[in-house]
Amino acid sequence: MKSRRTLLAAATLAVALTTGMTVALTPAAGAGTTLKAAAAEKGRYFGAAVAVNKLSTSAYTTILNREFNSVVAENEMKWSSTEPQQNTFTYSSGDRLVSHAQANGMSVRGHTLLWHAQQPGWAQGMSGSALRSAMINHVTQVATHYRGKIYAWDVVNEAFADGGSGGRRDSNMQRTGNDWIEAAFRAARAADPGAKLCYNDYNTDGINAKSTGIYNMVRDFKSRGVPIDCVGFQSHLGTSLASDYQANLQRFADLGVDVQITELDVMTGGNQANIYGAVTRACLAVSRCTGITTWGVRDCDSWRGSDNALLFDCNGNKKAAYTAVLDALNGGSTPPTTPPPGSGVDTSAWYVLLNRNSGKALDLYASATNDGARISQWSRNNGVNQQWQFVDSGSGYYRVKSRHSSKVLDVSGFSTADGGAIVQWSDLNGTNQQFRIANSADGYVRLINRNSSKAVEVQGASTADGGNIVQYADWGGTNQQWQLVRIG
Ligand code: G3I
Repeated sequence: MKSRRTLLAAATLAVALTTGMTVALTPAAGAGTTLKAAAAEKGRYFGAAVAVNKLSTSAYTTILNREFNSVVAENEMKWSSTEPQQNTFTYSSGDRLVSHAQANGMSVRGHTLLWHAQQPGWAQGMSGSALRSAMINHVTQVATHYRGKIYAWDVVNEAFADGGSGGRRDSNMQRTGNDWIEAAFRAARAADPGAKLCYNDYNTDGINAKSTGIYNMVRDFKSRGVPIDCVGFQSHLGTSLASDYQANLQRFADLGVDVQITELDVMTGGNQANIYGAVTRACLAVSRCTGITTWGVRDCDSWRGSDNALLFDCNGNKKAAYTAVLDALNGGSTPPTTPPPGSGVDTSAWYVLLNRNSGKALDLYASATNDGARISQWSRNNGVNQQWQFVDSGSGYYRVKSRHSSKVLDVSGFSTADGGAIVQWSDLNGTNQQFRIANSADGYVRLINRNSSKAVEVQGASTADGGNIVQYADWGGTNQQWQLVRIG
């Protein structure tokens, strides 16, 4: 039995189509009440830089966990932190952040593999081929350690000069040869093929000599096949915003890379909220702008001290700037062309979905073709009743379509209850048929229903053939985690 809501939605769509109205196929989403929920509605992430030792402060983690679904280490993944002595790697702080992220459904930006600042002392004194080898070894080691856990790496940070030259910044790394940046990107790709690889810089907020120098490098990399996927715009801002901020993001996106706002903070004052709102709207207007990160959580966490540059005051209260960002996130947007973190599915591919707990495959039981047929798990055999395609519903949601029946996974009757049955049903693009792909550890994902916000799971953590597939509150259990194995 379909619920009244499904029928109404289908009827509305049918009327709209027959009367020639232009409608968005994706039903209107509700306004998000947190930064991460509002951003997710727009298919973007909203992140914060985290000082890892503050994860022990509950006032801090309460805000972090409530509002943000992406994190980046403010300092703990920098070269001086991860390789304090040559070839001695220390990952404990970075690992702690990754664990926190995984436990709380957050993606991780990696910051940063190579930067002229924050080099360990031993590297500062090096030059030439010895330094180049050490640089590439560092990239390889660190990216390998975090392989599969990082959404996007700032492979190289701040390598361009300020001012009007548009050229590279002088540094010991630059003096190893102009090709050091592409060498770093190639090493990072080899070490972690799944991470997006970004170039990240500041004072690139409008179209100026520095941003144009970077633009030319990215264009050159794309033309020569150097692996680069994204450009980070730090956006440490003062009391005004470049009028061509959005146009600048767009020109990079037009080169075929994603763009991200990576270290946003804004000088306090009468314009702070306006600037925060304008930056958010600019990102949402660019389909390849995949998310925004603020450089800290509360004003007192910020490297900018008395600038009070963040969205929460020192007591954790939401500031006017917070409201400006939230309102902007709940306003208009251009749908993303790049899926949000953790959902890098190819909508033209067919996947087998393997449950982490049981190792069994999501299976259309007995190859039924009727609406309402049950979904189970079964030993993997790669049959067409175990093959599924992700059909884009926009805003980061997908239907999951059976290759055998062409029907889609459906939370029966729009149930919002734990244990609600997952069946197959004709594709109506209802919100009970739409799932968000949330990251878990080690490349596993959870499928979160848009209507109920519950996760697709193997009921009772069964390991038996025929085990039932239902929805349940998203607690991250291994019976809620799925590996997407592309087979066609
Ligand atoms: O932890 C030590 C502490 O033990 C010592 O007593 C103290 C003495 O000053 O220093 C502490 O380390 C400081 C560290 O932050 C942690 O607080 C370093 O001195 C200080 O240089 C470091 O500053 C960081 C800065 O990068 C330089 O790495 C800031 O926290 C961090 O917010 C800032 O972040 C950068 C991005 O990585 C790149 N873009 C610009 C952005 C802002 O500068």
